[in-house]
Amino acid sequence: MTQSTDVVELLKAQHTRIRDLLDEVAAAKGEERKQHFQDLVRLLAVHETAEEEVVHPFARKNIDGGEQIVKDRIQEEENAKEVLSRLDDMDTDSPQFMTQFKELRKDVLAHAEAEEKYEFAQFKQVADRGKLENMARAVKAAEAVAPTRPHPGTDTAVKNLAVGPVASVVDRTRDAIRKAIG
Ligand SMILES: [Fe+2]
Ligand SMILES: [Fe+2]
Repeated sequence: MTQSTDVVELLKAQHTRIRDLLDEVAAAKGEERKQHFQDLVRLLAVHETAEEEVVHPFARKNIDGGEQIVKDRIQEEENAKEVLSRLDDMDTDSPQFMTQFKELRKDVLAHAEAEEKYEFAQFKQVADRGKLENMARAVKAAEAVAPTRPHPGTDTAVKNLAVGPVASVVDRTRDAIRKAIG
């Protein structure tokens, strides 16, 4: 788990891991691609849930033009979720999967970039320290639900989870966040 208490750093580290996983899915084949894709789906579920629970609500209220910025980001997240659900029951080695996956990759990369540029970049100027630390706690608690750097072959329980239980990952993430921020 990332050690930082800086929420922007934590979110950016998750973005980096998401970018890496997108590359790993594209580069791999067969069982390996399937596993990377499952890791990606879990991390996206955890990451976006933390953003929805604490980061976007904070941004909406506290940054310049927050209402519109957050509205746009949530729209992008909705679009990505839609593509993700289309990918859900596809054979990861089929040409259809790769076509949709490329679309997802483009959307997710643009989304992460827009968050960093328009949303997170403003946090330092507006946030009080307590709020930032609280958000960092929430993001870390969320991260613990789906480790962002699983060790290949050692974390069988995580590896064996199919893409299916995304809803349960989201539920557990919400619980963990709510416990962490009380
Ligand atoms: Fe997001
Ligand atoms: Fe994000």
